[in-house]
Amino acid sequence: MRLLRPRPGPLRAPRSPGPRLLGALLLVAVAATGCLGGGGDAGSGGEQSRRPPVSSAPLGNVVPAPASVSPSGPGYTLAPGAAIRIDDRPAVRAVGDYLAAILRPSTGYRLPVTPGAGSDGIQLRLDPAQRALGAEGYRLTSSWTTVSVVAREPAGLFRGVQTLRQLLPAAVEKDTRQTGVWRVPGGTITDTPRYAYRGAMLDVARHFFTVDQVKRYIDQLALYKINKMHLHLTDDQGWRITIDSWPKLTTVGGATAVGGGKGGFYTKAQYRELVAYAASRHMDVIPEIGLPGHTAAALAAYPDLSCNGFRDPVHTGLDTGFSSLCVGKEKTYDFVDDVIRELAAMTPGEYLHIGGDEADSTSKKDYRIFMDRVREIVARHGKKVIAWHEITGAGADEKVTAQYWGTDRTEKGERKRVAEAVKKGTKLILSPADRVYLDMQYTYRHPLGLSWAGRIEVDRSYDWDPARYLEDDGIPDEAVLGVEAPIWTETLVNSAQLEQMAFPRLLGVAEKGWSGGGIPWAEYEPRLAAQAGRMSALGIAFHRSPTVAWPKN
Ligand code: ACM
Repeated sequence: MRLLRPRPGPLRAPRSPGPRLLGALLLVAVAATGCLGGGGDAGSGGEQSRRPPVSSAPLGNVVPAPASVSPSGPGYTLAPGAAIRIDDRPAVRAVGDYLAAILRPSTGYRLPVTPGAGSDGIQLRLDPAQRALGAEGYRLTSSWTTVSVVAREPAGLFRGVQTLRQLLPAAVEKDTRQTGVWRVPGGTITDTPRYAYRGAMLDVARHFFTVDQVKRYIDQLALYKINKMHLHLTDDQGWRITIDSWPKLTTVGGATAVGGGKGGFYTKAQYRELVAYAASRHMDVIPEIGLPGHTAAALAAYPDLSCNGFRDPVHTGLDTGFSSLCVGKEKTYDFVDDVIRELAAMTPGEYLHIGGDEADSTSKKDYRIFMDRVREIVARHGKKVIAWHEITGAGADEKVTAQYWGTDRTEKGERKRVAEAVKKGTKLILSPADRVYLDMQYTYRHPLGLSWAGRIEVDRSYDWDPARYLEDDGIPDEAVLGVEAPIWTETLVNSAQLEQMAFPRLLGVAEKGWSGGGIPWAEYEPRLAAQAGRMSALGIAFHRSPTVAWPKN
């Protein structure tokens, strides 16, 4: 029995499954567990359960949904003497060491990471001949003697390891020893991503988040196969990255935050540490410098960069759209050039994000002049431009990737401008704010978050299809590079608050990016519910949305 992930067809996907589809899904679920009523405590941690945590998760009960699942046999049980067998290459060893570091504390097993062949244990192998697996795909096979992950590239092994984690009992995520039967259900998963770009954005400008807090988020994102970490580094309320040639950006511009509290910033060494950490999770960091608006912190540090030259304090309120670099001053471009040059030198990834949103105090003419020059600066420093979709009002083309943050209420004219840019070759990252802005409140009663784009419960957040989202505007799926879930931090000051807003909606966005948008909520919801134990084991105090039937324990 194969469970194939739905691919977008010519028609809109049904909002809810019809009786035939539901019946088929139930059959697949029954076949995958191997028996009727064989559910058990999928996803529950071992802590609350009196029984040892045996994984009863059917193969394929993972988020994001794999492309193809073929259950067979009883599967593999990790033994105390098992090794992680790897190809003798540093990039494969790094994935082996990463997996061992997750499994050792909870299992208490030694799990040596051992180069060379063998027909037992966990196996991590590269096979360049597996062309169909592409840059991030993998094949996971769980049998009586071994569980193997094969990929064409190390990134594929890393993604496959995330699936392997999710097939083990949730208690495996704990950092203290657990009693368990560490079984992986039997069969084969063959999996590749639907979209190349699967991002999450963290706003460290409105409130600052430390290196350790960002690393924690990176680790959580990695579990759900996110591969881009967009860091929103500057805004009216704070400048968070050291630029040597303009030191007051951080000493003045980074000193505070929304509400006037303590600010913070990354040194270049800290920023490089974050980039390296993300890279070890096969994730690119995409730094964003907001331009030409959202620049009050920079202007407080260097008032000469504004047209009036007034020295205002760093902004601590929530309003937007009032600040702008002075488009007519040459010094502005010296500044942008220095910032982009220093940032590009710390950024191994191909993209720099230049903001471009809500430039409400810059005239349309000036905006275009400014963006044309900044695009040229970014290209000169060897990087590609991403900007919020307002850039399409400045004549975007194939050299620009636009991040669409509209909602169901976005005006037709605005969407038309985006469509015109797409015709000229602009690719899109979709971040519909009334679906995937993770800082939006869940309900009016939720204490955290904003609500300008709506109140977004977990089911609504999942209710869209990237391939069809802008099809009424003539924008085809081929224009969609991927999806991204931003989280803005006006109301969020620590990891617990961040995680309460991100989880579990982030998992749905990750699934849109990896598996595509054709899966009905009714099929996704139980798989999401089964993640409860894993999120809890990782210390994530997620929102227990009433739209999901979470396990009782
Ligand atoms: C945005 O939310 N201003 C991109």
